[in-house]
Amino acid sequence: MCGIVGYIGKPESPSDKARDVVLEGLARLEYRGYDSAGIAVAGSQPLAWLKREGRLDNLKAAIEAEPLPPASAAIGHTRWATHGAPSDTNSHPHISHDERVAVVHNGIIENHAALAAELAERGIERVSETDTEIAAHLLAIELEKGADLLDAMRTIAGKLEGSFALVALDSQHPERLVAARRNSPLVVGLGEGENYLGSDVAAFVGETKRALELGQDTIVEVTADSVNVIDFDGNPTQAKEFSVDWDLSAVAKGGYETFMDKEIHEQPMAVRETLRARTTEQGNLQLDELRIPESILRSIDKIIVVACGTAAYAGHVAKYAIEHWCRIPVEIELAHEFRYRDPVVNEKTLVVAISQSGETMDTLMAIRHAREQGSKVLAIVNTQGSTIARESDAVLYTHAGPEIAVASTKAFISQIAAAYLLGLYLAELRGNKYVDEIAGYLDELGKMPGRIEQVLEQEEQIRELARSMADIDSVIFLGRHVGYPVALEGALKLKELAYVHAEGFAAGELKHGPIALIEEDLPVFVIVPTPRRPLLHAKVISNLQEVRSRGAKLIVIAEEGDEDVLKYADPSQVFWAPRTTPTLMMPLVTVIPLQIFACEVAKAKGYDVDKPRNLAKSVTVE
Ligand code: M6R
Repeated sequence: MCGIVGYIGKPESPSDKARDVVLEGLARLEYRGYDSAGIAVAGSQPLAWLKREGRLDNLKAAIEAEPLPPASAAIGHTRWATHGAPSDTNSHPHISHDERVAVVHNGIIENHAALAAELAERGIERVSETDTEIAAHLLAIELEKGADLLDAMRTIAGKLEGSFALVALDSQHPERLVAARRNSPLVVGLGEGENYLGSDVAAFVGETKRALELGQDTIVEVTADSVNVIDFDGNPTQAKEFSVDWDLSAVAKGGYETFMDKEIHEQPMAVRETLRARTTEQGNLQLDELRIPESILRSIDKIIVVACGTAAYAGHVAKYAIEHWCRIPVEIELAHEFRYRDPVVNEKTLVVAISQSGETMDTLMAIRHAREQGSKVLAIVNTQGSTIARESDAVLYTHAGPEIAVASTKAFISQIAAAYLLGLYLAELRGNKYVDEIAGYLDELGKMPGRIEQVLEQEEQIRELARSMADIDSVIFLGRHVGYPVALEGALKLKELAYVHAEGFAAGELKHGPIALIEEDLPVFVIVPTPRRPLLHAKVISNLQEVRSRGAKLIVIAEEGDEDVLKYADPSQVFWAPRTTPTLMMPLVTVIPLQIFACEVAKAKGYDVDKPRNLAKSVTVE
């Protein structure tokens, strides 16, 4: 959702750098999803700002037409509308009534209406429909009383309810930026004689690799040479420094037409990196990151996976493997449902939160609830310094590199790989599997990058089929066992990218209702289990028959050499998973054709596959 960038340099040398760093940062944050963008700068000249609805290019064109003055400080924002429609006026930065303060904000100020009413009594009317604007006015009122920006921020942070990462610039003191955060993400980038703020490290990854995590309910004052962090009560607080392991090339398209194409092709790397350094030379599992005491991990009697969207489907896949390997019941729960239904969780429950961004508010709230109930929380997260990583008892990073396209691909694959490492670790720790069995599974996992590469070789055939089907308006995906969450993921990809109505079902469920939807020419994707699991396989082959006999168009993903599927599906519409891939590892390869298909249908329809409509990469509101 909203992206924030802040830059602070030496006040004695204003230049265009502040503007340029912020615009570059905003470009790198475009992936979060936005509908307008804006910038404010300050230095030797009074506050100047520009904001435009639509793409960042609109803002850049406005700056061309109306150049901003040289500055030492700048803040910028990409807005994903919540309060008030996308418009120039509702875009951030918001400016105080006296034009002294500019603010950008990510989150929702829930008591904005009450605060706006108080402001109205003082004769200050909002010009926008946003919740954010009140923060600018409130800060200006405090400054007018003689407070400095840090104190002013502390005062207003105590009045705001909801979630906020709020960055403010006082044009009378352009030597500092002050920010406050509660529940919404914000990180500091550390430079030499200049510093940065960002809603994630992508905002400043082109400038520095040194960053600071900010804790919950903190305020930070940043100048060119210093960073001062306090809590909402004014007590000094430590912020943990970390080194950003993403580089600029990771946030560029690297010759691909879209980020999604690049990320689909990065999937072998994502699995390889997630597995790397997690085994000893003897092939034993080594998860040093699991800082939860072994005695606790031995005593847990239930695992609940909390996640949303694609991450939840990764958790759903992991359920099959972890239950099979560890004999611990695993529940998979959409994070937004978890907290509100009084779930049965206690100190014997291990809650596993899966999140690419590490900022999904629904998931964050779920883990807070779980920890309040005494559960340990282990997070599987891709983004360093993210809130979910910081607030969990232990983190298993997925090392997929930044995922820029809104639709998740390499994160899904690496989440499954990480969850499998966790499952194997628990199986070994709890004595469910012998060391040599674990080594066997690890060996198979290690072969998955190569197997994914084999599936990627069928890319052109999948894209051709997708282009020929670009006018589809409804699609069904069927899978059984671990193929079921893959079917759900295939349907989600098509919905979010190509805006096609798609449903995923457990294949066994077909006869309980969904079969009524099957009609002549309806595209039905079926993920067929390996013939090496004859019982499972035979049942899904029956589903192929049932669907085919009703005239539907079958698209099949099956194991190489599975002759049975060719009795029902046209060979040009069958995509092959490498022979001998173990059943539990199948999702890592069977999902690939579905990702490519959705991507290509969207392109054929002329849609932006990296930024599908209405969606944000990082969903930082509940
Ligand atoms: O950052 P997270 O993994 O927590 O995000 C969860 C979902 O919002 C995300 O997977 C979403 O469903 C993707 N757009 C799907 O492609």
